[in-house]
Amino acid sequence: MARLLELDAEVLASYLAELTGLLAQRVGPGPARVLDLGSGPGAGSLALARQFPAARVTAVDISAHLLHRLQKQAAAHGVADRISTVEANLDEPWTKITENKGPFDLIWAASFIHHVSDPARTFTRAFEQLRPGGLIAVTEMDFFPRFLPEDTGAGEPGLEDRLHQATNTQPPHQWTGPLARAGFVVEELRPFEIRLDSTQTGPALNAYAQVCLAKLRSHATDVLEADDLAALDALLDETQPQSIARRSDLSVRTTRTTWLARRP
Ligand SMILES: C[S@@+](CC[C@H](N)C(=O)[O-])C[C@H]1O[C@@H](n2cnc3c(N)ncnc32)[C@H](O)[C@@H]1O
Repeated sequence: MARLLELDAEVLASYLAELTGLLAQRVGPGPARVLDLGSGPGAGSLALARQFPAARVTAVDISAHLLHRLQKQAAAHGVADRISTVEANLDEPWTKITENKGPFDLIWAASFIHHVSDPARTFTRAFEQLRPGGLIAVTEMDFFPRFLPEDTGAGEPGLEDRLHQATNTQPPHQWTGPLARAGFVVEELRPFEIRLDSTQTGPALNAYAQVCLAKLRSHATDVLEADDLAALDALLDETQPQSIARRSDLSVRTTRTTWLARRP
C-alpha cells in the first residue's frame, strides 16, 4: 500500500500540483491551517505544504507505519516543521483533532472517504472542524489507472480493458448529496482526465504500473479467462523481455474527481 501510494504521488506529481493550484485560487489568501484526512504516506500533505508555504498541515491516519513514512518524506523535503501527524481512527470520536488543532481553513480528503464506515458522520465532523468560509476538497479516483498499449505482444489485444471490466465492479462515488446534507455548499465537481507518457512522468512509471497491475492481478484469479491470466502473468514477470518493468511504451491514463465544498 505504502509503495503504491508513494509511486502514485511521484508519477502524478503534475496532477497534484494542478489540483493544489486550483485550491489556491479557491481557498483565499494563505490558508494557515490545513487538515489531511486519511493522509497515508503524505502525497497530499506534501503537495499542500509545497503549495502553501505559510501553512501548517495536520496529517491524520490510522496507520502508524504510513505516518512514519510521511514524517521521513517531510524531513527529506524540508517541511517537517510544518507537518504534524496524528495517529487516529477517524471512525471514532475526533478528540485528538478537536483538542488543539483546529479550526482549519482547508480540509483535504483524497481516496479516503470511501474507507470510512459512515461518510455522512465523517462529513459532519469535517464541517465542525472547518472555520466558516473554509473549504473541503474531497477526491476519489475512479479506478486503477490504465498503463498498457492495446496490443502488448502477450496474448490477445485488449487485455487491460478486459482486466478492468472484470475487476471494476463498484459504482462511482457520489459525495455531492452527503456533503450538502452535512451543511456544505458544493461549489464544484471537477474531473481530472490524466494522460501522461513516460517523458512526462519520469522513471517511476514502470514501477507504478507493475505495482498497480500486480494488485489487479490479485483480484482477477476467478474473474478473468485463463489465457488473459497467463498473458498478464507474463507481463508481470520481470525476467520477460516484454515485461511491464522493461517496456518503453507505457503511459498512465486515469480520471480523478474532486468535490470542492465550502462551509458557509
Ligand atoms: C487509499 S489511501 C489514501 C492515502 C492518501 N490520502 C493518498 O491520497 O495517497 C487511504 C488511507 O486512509 C487510511 N484510513 C482508512 N481508514 C481509516 C480510518 N478509519 N481512520 C483513519 N485513516 C484511515 C488508510 O490507512 C490509508 O492511508
